[in-house]
Amino acid sequence: MEDVKSIIIDENAEDISTFSNYKKIVQKKMDIYAYLDFSQKTFSGHITTTYSYLDKNEKYLILDLKGPQILKVAILEDETPKELSFKIDNENKFKNSLGTPLIIKLPEFEKKPEEIKIKIDFVTNENCGGIQFLEKEQTFNKNYNFMFTQCEAIQCRSLFPCQDTPSSKVIVEATLEVEKPYKFLFGGIEKETKENENKTITKYIQKIPIPTYLIAFACGNLEYRKISERCGVYTEINLGDKAKYEFEDSEKFIESMENYLNRKYDWEVYNLLVLPFSFPYGGMENPNLTFVTPSLLAGDKSLSNVIAHEICHSWTGNLVTNKNWKNFWVNEGFTIFLERKIAEILYGEDMKNLESLVGYEGVIKDIEMLGEDSSFTCLNPDIYGVDPDDGFTTVPYEKGFQLLYFLESLIGKNDFMNVMRLYIDKYKFMSVDYSSFKNTYENYVKENKGNQSQEILNQIDWDKWINSKGKPFHQFNFESKLGDEAVKLGDKFLNGNGSSDDKTLFVNWHTNVKMYFLKYLLKNVNNVNEDVYKKLKEVFAFDKEKYNMEVMNLWFQISLKTKHDDFIDLIKKFLLEIGRLKYIRPVYFTWFDFQPNEAKDFFEKNKNVYHAFARRMLSNKFNQ
Ligand code: BES
Ligand code: ZN
Repeated sequence: MEDVKSIIIDENAEDISTFSNYKKIVQKKMDIYAYLDFSQKTFSGHITTTYSYLDKNEKYLILDLKGPQILKVAILEDETPKELSFKIDNENKFKNSLGTPLIIKLPEFEKKPEEIKIKIDFVTNENCGGIQFLEKEQTFNKNYNFMFTQCEAIQCRSLFPCQDTPSSKVIVEATLEVEKPYKFLFGGIEKETKENENKTITKYIQKIPIPTYLIAFACGNLEYRKISERCGVYTEINLGDKAKYEFEDSEKFIESMENYLNRKYDWEVYNLLVLPFSFPYGGMENPNLTFVTPSLLAGDKSLSNVIAHEICHSWTGNLVTNKNWKNFWVNEGFTIFLERKIAEILYGEDMKNLESLVGYEGVIKDIEMLGEDSSFTCLNPDIYGVDPDDGFTTVPYEKGFQLLYFLESLIGKNDFMNVMRLYIDKYKFMSVDYSSFKNTYENYVKENKGNQSQEILNQIDWDKWINSKGKPFHQFNFESKLGDEAVKLGDKFLNGNGSSDDKTLFVNWHTNVKMYFLKYLLKNVNNVNEDVYKKLKEVFAFDKEKYNMEVMNLWFQISLKTKHDDFIDLIKKFLLEIGRLKYIRPVYFTWFDFQPNEAKDFFEKNKNVYHAFARRMLSNKFNQ
């Protein structure tokens, strides 16, 4: 193996975030056996992958790997393993971002087979970025451990070696073993569970081919509540009823998307899993098993749009998949568009527009934070050599949504719905970049819009939409009475005219209106003087009332931005209660601008409770 040099990624490759030679020899099916050991904090076992040759001259199999220990590599010939030599490229210049490729020497065959099966024995531990082992204290009940994985974008390689690219899709079978009474879950359909004296062994299958970033495992002491025939929710013990209530609308969300896209939900089962607080996202669309943050359990379904969002990924993302992370907006922008379609269908145009306004304010803030010149402010970011997650902001979500909204406005809702249907139907089970949608749209317009079609298409400067950095260049008019109400109340307070009579209005608003109101204040924070601040605090009683975390994190930002420390204790409590980056990042960052030493000390003292990704995103700021 000495002749094998360090692996270099071609800057023009289809997916520049993988080292693997998936264009030569490609994964088709994975059989995973894993044993979870909480006492050692290891996830270990073997993975047998079937690869299909696309180029029979290929002598090596190159896989992505970042962290796990590799014990053995073998080829299965008539199911008998024959060991193969391998090398790990430990000095690769992208080892900190993309990992250390695993290079396997393939045997010289007399006659090359169409397919080969490679079996790899691995041990994955808590230092591997895609898995988090939680201590009992980090869970809701504090008496059992918990484990969960998060593979998107490129962390599947930190669970086991694979072709970690969304360009290729695999069928997965998993056999998972753990001590009783733990339940070991996988993002697939449960086939059978066997128990012996002290262990449970569960078999799962994901028979729809999926990209590796959708591979997901979790384990804890869990209970299950059925929501509808095909929907249900897993939680830690004693949270089941609360979660069942909170997510009751799941079935309704699925049905409205089935109607809009005129396609039955493909995945049969839709389960949710409520994770412990350190889960760094709101939700993750793992197939058959959406992962969600416990902060969604607000008690009043006010944050259920996250569920609508993850459900929409069942079509955009999980059926039609971005082929690389430069095209991440093809997953997220489309999914935001569909999520807001659900809002439009179920709650009306005004609510949809309000969500678009809230999103718009969010992306403006993100662009200001990134700097208008940053490549992460466009829909085609430069991610060569970097971990794509490092640029994670709302840009692909909101700029992507805005482009689709614009395209819809050019041809009307009904025609646009037809385009979406054609697009999903044509590209299901495939991986695409945005040109697939562009083609579908353009063909549809040409075929259905007669002599108007050129005029329509001429209005779209695709290059500008995809490549423009900085703030959105297109002016939108998201008309929303609710939004106007929020602004009106905002102005009233900013002008010093707020009064206790305004509390009822606020309390009865939908969370989106509350958010828009608080974001409006945040945008005009220079006008939040001492009197205004006192009035806001007094009227809305942010220190006494129980508002959800969307509301609280915004209020905390206002408090810190205006250099007040009267909420510091509540802020500290908040920062230890939730690990969702969307909330803790802006709170830490505004605290840091106000009291850098205090914020930094607090973070350093407590950083171990967070997920590795959250820790990394926050450390970047504190150590800059
Ligand atoms: N797929 C994302 C989460 C994600 C993105 C994980 C990138 C890893 C890398 C998920 O669907 C998502 O967008 N979640 C949002 C929900 C929101 C937009 C409603 C979140 O977590 O905030
Ligand atoms: Zn999403």
